[in-house]
Amino acid sequence: MKKDILSVTDLTKQEFADVLNLASDLKEKRKKGILGDLLYKKSLGMIFEKASTRTRISFETGMFELGGHAIFLNPNDMQLGRGEEIKDTARVLSGYLSAIMVRSFYHKTVEEIAKYATVPVINGLSDKEHPCQILADVMTMRETFGEDLSSLKVAWIGDGNNVCNSLILSSLYTRFEVRVSTPKGYGPDGDIVKSTIEAGGNVRFFESPDEAVLGSDVIYTDTWISMGSENEKEKRLRDFSGYCVSRKLMEKASPKAVVMHCLPAHRGEEITDEVIEGKNSIVWRQAENRLHAQKALLVKLLHK
Ligand code: CP
Ligand code: NVA
Repeated sequence: MKKDILSVTDLTKQEFADVLNLASDLKEKRKKGILGDLLYKKSLGMIFEKASTRTRISFETGMFELGGHAIFLNPNDMQLGRGEEIKDTARVLSGYLSAIMVRSFYHKTVEEIAKYATVPVINGLSDKEHPCQILADVMTMRETFGEDLSSLKVAWIGDGNNVCNSLILSSLYTRFEVRVSTPKGYGPDGDIVKSTIEAGGNVRFFESPDEAVLGSDVIYTDTWISMGSENEKEKRLRDFSGYCVSRKLMEKASPKAVVMHCLPAHRGEEITDEVIEGKNSIVWRQAENRLHAQKALLVKLLHK
C-alpha cells in the first residue's frame, strides 16, 4: 500500500529513525561526491499554493541528484486554478508521477489529494504541520547532540504554528522535552498537544519566554506571521512583542544552547540579527539538512 506523509506520525518511530540514518549516510556520501541513482527515472510533482525557497529547491535538487526528476506545479497554471477538482487532479497526476508533494493553505487539501492519489503524497507544509522541516531539524539536533536526544530541553518561543505542531509530535520519537512559550491565543493545536501528552510526550507550557528557555538546550523560533496570516500583521507584531529571541533571552538558556529557525527569518521580529548570526546559531546547517532528509524520505517512500 502507498504511504503518505501528511504528519510526522505518519512515520513510525522506526521509520523516522531509518529516514534520519539514511539522510546522514546520503549526506556523508554526497560530501565525497557519491550521489548514486536511488531515484532513477522517478518523478515528483510539487504543487505549491504558497511561496517556497528551501522546500522547492531542496526537493528539486534531491530528485535530480538521485537520478530522478521534479516538476514545479503552480496551481494557477494548472486547470486546478480554473476549477478542476482536486480529486480529479490527484488521480490524473498519479498516472504520470511517482510521488506528489503539496504545499497548501489548508491541511484538508493535502488530505484530499492523498485520499485520491494512488502514489505517495508528502505534506510540504500546511496550516497544520510541516513534517519535512522537522525531519531536517531532528537530523540537525542529532548531529549536534548525538543520537540520544531524550535528555534535551527544546524551547519553542513565539507562534504555536505548523512547525511547532510537528516539533511537538516529533517528541514522541525523540523523547525530548518541548517547552512552549507563546502569547495567549497563539498556542499550538490543542488536539496535537493532547494526543502527544496522552501518548507519553513531555510538553510543558510557560507564560514567559524567560522561564521556557531557562536551562534549555535548543531555542527554536519561527516567524510570527505565517503564510496566510499576513492580514493580521499589525496585531501580531503587537501581540508577540516580548517574544523575540535576543541575546538577553539566550543568556538565560544553557550556555551551550543552540538556536534554530526553520527560515525565512525576520530579523528584529522573532529573532535578532546578532543571535541568528551568532556562534550558537545552527540555522544554515538546519536548512541544508532539508535536502538530505527529504532525499532519504523519498527513497524510503519510493522503494517500498
Ligand atoms: N522552511 C521552509 O519550509 O522554507 P521555505 O518556505 O522556503 O520552503
Ligand atoms: N510557519 C511558517 C513556516 C514557513 C516555512 C509558515 O507557515 O509560513
